[in-house]
Amino acid sequence: MNFNLNTYQQTWQQINQSKIITHQIDIKQPIALSIFDCIPSTNTKLWELIDRGLKCPLGGIAFSQTAGKGQWGHSWISVAGGLYLSVGLDLDLEINNYPHLVMATAWGVGTTLRHYQLPVTIKWSNDLMLNQRKLGGIKIETRNNHNKLVQAVVGIGINWQNSVPELGINLQSYYQAKNIQAISSLEELTAIATYGILLGYEYYLTVGIDQLLDKYLEILASLGQQVDFNGCAGEVVGVTTEGKLKLKLRSPGATTEIALSPGQISLGYSSSLPKDI
Ligand code: BTN
Repeated sequence: MNFNLNTYQQTWQQINQSKIITHQIDIKQPIALSIFDCIPSTNTKLWELIDRGLKCPLGGIAFSQTAGKGQWGHSWISVAGGLYLSVGLDLDLEINNYPHLVMATAWGVGTTLRHYQLPVTIKWSNDLMLNQRKLGGIKIETRNNHNKLVQAVVGIGINWQNSVPELGINLQSYYQAKNIQAISSLEELTAIATYGILLGYEYYLTVGIDQLLDKYLEILASLGQQVDFNGCAGEVVGVTTEGKLKLKLRSPGATTEIALSPGQISLGYSSSLPKDI
C-alpha cells in the first residue's frame, strides 16, 4: 500500500485552527510520521521508536495490525482499510491527571473531525461516535517517573473504509450516504487525527481542565443517557474534572448523585440506532 507523506503534511498545514477554537495554539509543524505495512501494534512500535531515541512528538501508522490493542485488554481488529495511528508525546502531568489526557485527546480528535462535515460525538470516556455507532477508539499508554506522567503513546483506530462490526460505522459509508466527501484519503484522515491529538493536549495545557471540560461536555453523547447501575435506575448528568461519570440515581423517595471511574460502568449503545447507515 502507498502513503503520500506530502498529502499528509499539506493537509495538516491547511487545517484552519481558527475555525476550530478561538485560542491560538502553536502546532504548525506536522508530526513526523513513520509508515508500516503490517505490524503487531502501532502503540508497541511507537515505544520501540522512543526507546531507540526518536524525539516526541512522533507518529506512526500501519496499514494493518496483527495484535491491535483496545481498551480494557480487548483486542482491536485491524484489517486493511482502517486508520491505525499512534502518537508519542512528552508529558509533564501529575499521575492523577491521567483522565485529563483521555478527555483532551478524545475532544481534540472529535472536534477536529467535526470540521469535516462529521457530527462526531464522544461516548464517555473516549469512544468516537458517529450516527450513534462507534467510529473509533483511543488506547493510551503512559510511562511515569515518580508521581509524574512523562510520556504517552496515544493510539487511535478510526474506521475509514474497513468493514466494521454491527455497532460500528466507517467514514466512507457515512460520506457516501450523504453524498459528500470532505475527507478523501487515508493521508488526510491521518493528518486530521494526528493534529487533533496534539491540539487536544496543547489546548488543555493552555486553558486548563475547567475549560477543557466545558468543551468536552459540548460533544459528549452520553449526557442524559438512562442507565442501570447495580439495579438502580439513573441518568448521566455530567463528568467531573477528575474524568468521572456523574450519575443521578433514583430510588423511591430519594435521588443521589454519584461519580464513577471508567471501568466501574460501561455505557451501552443507544437502543434506537438509525438504520440508514
Ligand atoms: C478501543 O478499544 O476503543 C481503543 C482502540 C484503539 C486501537 C488503536 S489502533 C492504533 C493503536 N495501536 C493499537 O494497538 N491500538 C491503537
